[in-house]
Amino acid sequence: MYEFYPYYTNDGSVGLFSPEADDIYHSTYGALTEAYQKFVLPLNLKKFIETNSEIKILDICFGIGYNTKSFLNNFIEIINNDTIYTNNIKYNYKIDTNNKKYKIFVHAIDKDKNLALLSPFFKSFSKNISKENSKSEFLNHNEKIKHLLKEKAAANFSLKKEVNILLLEKIYKKIDKSILEILKSKQYKRFFDNGVIDFYGYLKYLDDRNQGYKNKLAFLHNIYYKYISFCNKNALKYLKSLDFNFKLSIDDARKILKSDNNVYNFIFLDAFTPNKCPCLWTIDFFKLLYNLLDDNGMILTYSTSALVRNTFLNAGFNVGKIYLNSANKFIGTIAVKNKSLITYSDSINSNIINKYELSEYDLGLMKTKAGIFYRDENLTLDNETILNAHKKDVDNSNLISSSKYIKMFKDK
Ligand SMILES: C[S@@+](CC[C@H](N)C(=O)[O-])C[C@H]1O[C@@H](n2cnc3c(N)ncnc32)[C@H](O)[C@@H]1O
Repeated sequence: MYEFYPYYTNDGSVGLFSPEADDIYHSTYGALTEAYQKFVLPLNLKKFIETNSEIKILDICFGIGYNTKSFLNNFIEIINNDTIYTNNIKYNYKIDTNNKKYKIFVHAIDKDKNLALLSPFFKSFSKNISKENSKSEFLNHNEKIKHLLKEKAAANFSLKKEVNILLLEKIYKKIDKSILEILKSKQYKRFFDNGVIDFYGYLKYLDDRNQGYKNKLAFLHNIYYKYISFCNKNALKYLKSLDFNFKLSIDDARKILKSDNNVYNFIFLDAFTPNKCPCLWTIDFFKLLYNLLDDNGMILTYSTSALVRNTFLNAGFNVGKIYLNSANKFIGTIAVKNKSLITYSDSINSNIINKYELSEYDLGLMKTKAGIFYRDENLTLDNETILNAHKKDVDNSNLISSSKYIKMFKDK
């Protein structure tokens, strides 16, 4: 059976670890919190949908889908005029949609089919994080993650059940025996939401009925109504009138995007860290992304490295940084064509995050060896080849080292 390594992150949402990449998929601080703070709030979605009824999203490295799910969640919060709480302050989105119909297209890409298909089934929240994590075999042997899990996060964001249903309806036909085996297995069962598994049964029933199977009718209807009563009925009503399209591409993102003719409003770039997965952080890949981004679009990523920012700049973007007020630190980077998008923040979001242009210090750091970018001219090289060539570029460069620059800057 397919193996993966789930545990509960500090906001109660499920996170994963990859032994192969020796990297975490999500911040241990909170997988959902990270998606909201680094990928969704900087979009200023409320302002965007006041003037646009079509949204095209590219989710590079979909994994188990937190960025897409958080986007859909925030979209529903805004459309439903939800009251939300951020840092214990109450807000209402107050938007007048004039019964506008919205069209959302999400193109999600990942190499890992199993994770993408399991995405709608993951539990949104657990209250008992430490008790749950104590049951985890792999965590007991992973000091690095155990240590990181000491940092506490407030569970400020919550995922609506409708979001998982929305996704499930788009991908359930691709679910095969191997996915069902994972969903039922003793090892992973506690990470999955039984309500969503039941809903999958209902969707299958509808398909089977169309193909002439009439059994299980009453039983499955019960499941349907039991689950629906759990969900917010208004939101469900709304979801029916939303034109939501979801395309899942399972392959190397470079290969898929070379032949993608879409123009996206928002691009989420959530690859493993640059030194683990350099092929998705090269100057050549970023130039490809430039052509896929709308003139008023935005690329978002969690990386704050000088290398990544310099690569965006050299690929033609304006670059900004995401600042988290509560932690008093920069937590991510945005790349845009329209510079004015960097500094704009709406009033609800600016309570949590702000966006800034790069400082004199940041720009200087990018001109050191730390800013030397990865190259992959034909978008075909493997990670090791890219890393080796990069090491040679750094060794042969006359630029000063980042540590020397940091010292010089401090002494100024
Ligand atoms: C940091 S995780 C992404 C987490 C994800 N956004 C989520 O919400 O769960 C990185 C992902 O990149 C995928 N990946 C690695 N190399 C890739 C490539 N060349 N093309 C597409 N996906 C890739 C991995 O399978 C993994 O799911």
